[in-house]
Amino acid sequence: MSLLLRCFCRASHLPSLAMIGLILATSIAISADPPLGLPSVPVPSDNPMTAEKITLGKQLYFDGRLSADNKVSCASCHDPAKGFSNGDRFATGVEGKKGGRSAPTVINTAYGSLQFWDGRAKTLEDQALGPIQNPIEMNMTLDAVIKKLNGIDGYKTQFKKVFGTDVTSDGIAKAIAAYERTVISGNAPYDKFKAGDTKALSEAAQRGQKLFFGKAHCSACHAGPNFSDNSFHNVGVGMDKKDFDKGRAEISKLSGDTGAFKTPTLREIAKSGPYFHDGSAKTLEEVVDHYLKGGIPNEWLDEEIFNIKIAPGEKADLVKFMTEGLSSPDYPDHKAPELPK
Ligand code: HEC
Ligand code: HEC
Repeated sequence: MSLLLRCFCRASHLPSLAMIGLILATSIAISADPPLGLPSVPVPSDNPMTAEKITLGKQLYFDGRLSADNKVSCASCHDPAKGFSNGDRFATGVEGKKGGRSAPTVINTAYGSLQFWDGRAKTLEDQALGPIQNPIEMNMTLDAVIKKLNGIDGYKTQFKKVFGTDVTSDGIAKAIAAYERTVISGNAPYDKFKAGDTKALSEAAQRGQKLFFGKAHCSACHAGPNFSDNSFHNVGVGMDKKDFDKGRAEISKLSGDTGAFKTPTLREIAKSGPYFHDGSAKTLEEVVDHYLKGGIPNEWLDEEIFNIKIAPGEKADLVKFMTEGLSSPDYPDHKAPELPK
């Protein structure tokens, strides 16, 4: 087994894989340890992780040919160099078209029980085909993308090997989702501190941690190993606009969900600004200011959001906890692979 795992890692150039609980195509479970602080990544039984599938999914993730103008890939908006987001307020798709929401990070989204700011996709497999067909993102029909990829020998042979078929939309979704399950960040200073290494966090970050879990009330929603309760809240962002984004309510049809969005992970948060679903906060200081004043008042505001009084120095400590405590030395700094011809 250990030999298998070693080959696996070399083939995909992803050493962190050894840490993820993997299930091989042969359905032999390998119980390898996940990174410190995180549970094993949940893997659906109909899409087991294999080295070849992850390699294929990574190519598709970085390949602009999945878009109408051959230029926009998943990595254009979820760029490893920008915290797997895009560094802009809004996402920019084909021909420079812009949407109204910011690109969330892909890091640890494998732990999410629902995908998108409003949770409209249940799994990463369900999610993956959305942006390809979105007219302001990659703007392709599935038929067109399947035809295009079947015309590339390197893809055709890999799909045969991995799925036993030509290129299909089901295979595209599964391969990309399998790759996304390797975009993981744990083993941060916060995790080491929690595991007993008292030197892992600076004094300021330790003070910030106390605030985060105490007086500042952040862990009411940013809870658990991935700092998300996987739930939806109106924290009073963008609610002063006349035509504000209704968020989760558009999907659930519950008026109580108006202006509610999914609680995002805070892991690697230092890298993925600007922040919030509308990218309205440029810095983490601005995010904290937003919470301290109790968000933008509105009738659907979550009851856990209220005016909080902390000293100016404490504000800096809170930011320090997030930037220092939640940035891992094992950041998944993936580079674009060579693409099939
Ligand atoms: C033009 C920019 C753009 C491109 C290209 C793009 N995305 Fe996204 N992605 C976004 C935006 C914006 C959202 C949030 C949309 C929303 O919630 O309504 C998002 C959401 C997501 C999410 C949900 C994350 C979460 O925490 O809920 C995942 C996963 C994701 N994208 C993966 C992909 C994959 C895989 C591809 C390529 C097939 C891709 N994206 C292409 C902009 C983009
Ligand atoms: C009531 C639940 C709740 C509480 C309490 C809460 N958050 Fe959030 N947080 C969310 C939700 C939901 C979002 C997304 C909101 C949006 O974009 O409209 C979010 C977004 C964020 C973001 C932006 C993440 C990104 O990727 O854009 C940061 C940073 C953040 N919160 C930090 C904090 C801090 C620090 C505190 C404590 C001072 C806190 N949160 C308290 C639910 C909460």
